[in-house]
Amino acid sequence: MEGQTDLSTEIAGIELANPLMLASGIMDETGHSMANAVRHGAGSVVTKSLSMEPREGHPNPVVYEMDIGMINAMGLPNPGVEAYAEEISSFRKKAGDTPIFASIFGSSIDEYAHAASKAEQLGVDGIEINGSCPNAKGLGLQFGQSPGVIGDLVSAVRSAVTIPVLFKLTPVTDDIVKLALAAQEGGAHALVAINTMKVIKLDIRTKRPILTNGFGGLSGPALKPIGVRCVYEICSDERMEIPVIGVGGISTAEDAIEYMMAGASAVQIGTAVRWQGPSVFEEINEGISSFMEEMGYSSIKELIGAALEDGE
Ligand code: SIN
Repeated sequence: MEGQTDLSTEIAGIELANPLMLASGIMDETGHSMANAVRHGAGSVVTKSLSMEPREGHPNPVVYEMDIGMINAMGLPNPGVEAYAEEISSFRKKAGDTPIFASIFGSSIDEYAHAASKAEQLGVDGIEINGSCPNAKGLGLQFGQSPGVIGDLVSAVRSAVTIPVLFKLTPVTDDIVKLALAAQEGGAHALVAINTMKVIKLDIRTKRPILTNGFGGLSGPALKPIGVRCVYEICSDERMEIPVIGVGGISTAEDAIEYMMAGASAVQIGTAVRWQGPSVFEEINEGISSFMEEMGYSSIKELIGAALEDGE
């Protein structure tokens, strides 16, 4: 409870003290940095994307910053899911039972399933399947643009674990509702919308892309209207039964509320944590509470889907 307002929400049976989650890929190198996000008000965290084997990622430059957002092509660097065990246990020591979700990926459906099963053994509360990274050939997006592949991937991961399974969707599609329904049919307990948008930044003097990978993923303020539109479209579809977590360009309470009114049950924050530091969680929680008090809402659940045609 923040003042008189109840900020608690729920994703797939997991209780969150508030709807703000640390998005995968930002300040999640260590258990300490993730626990620090919780100390500053995050209701839960998502780990960096983990694979069975360690990956170095792409050589620099891997990030290009602009006023309107950020383009990254890290290339999914990670120490491998087993080596990450000590970060999970350090998180637990510092943040207690605050929910932690493991983001996982692989180069085959089997690898995704193995990585998910290993992550469950490390004691995470849920799995976020990253089927949407636009920056690493043969990983991520290759699994996230075809409804058939999404269905097979989600159902393989579901069979490999007993904890809730979230699927993170790409905006690089002409029909995100179709992808969302495929993940739901495969057995996903919840969806995460959206990952970054595939983009490119060229250097006009060298006539080459600035990032070593060529393409990168756009995050930050420029992504927000796309993310809100995706959440709105998914949550407006009467066949959707599972909760959606909104992500993309959230840096203020107003942004978070907009996503929730479009149907999101919780929201993830990434680029704003990098730009403003983890205190952004406190600021957004406070801003949401003030808005709720001003508008006469007592529970944040009243905001979820409030902008959809027939409300929720
Ligand atoms: C990356 O590591 O390149 C970004 C991860 C992602 O977009 O999922």
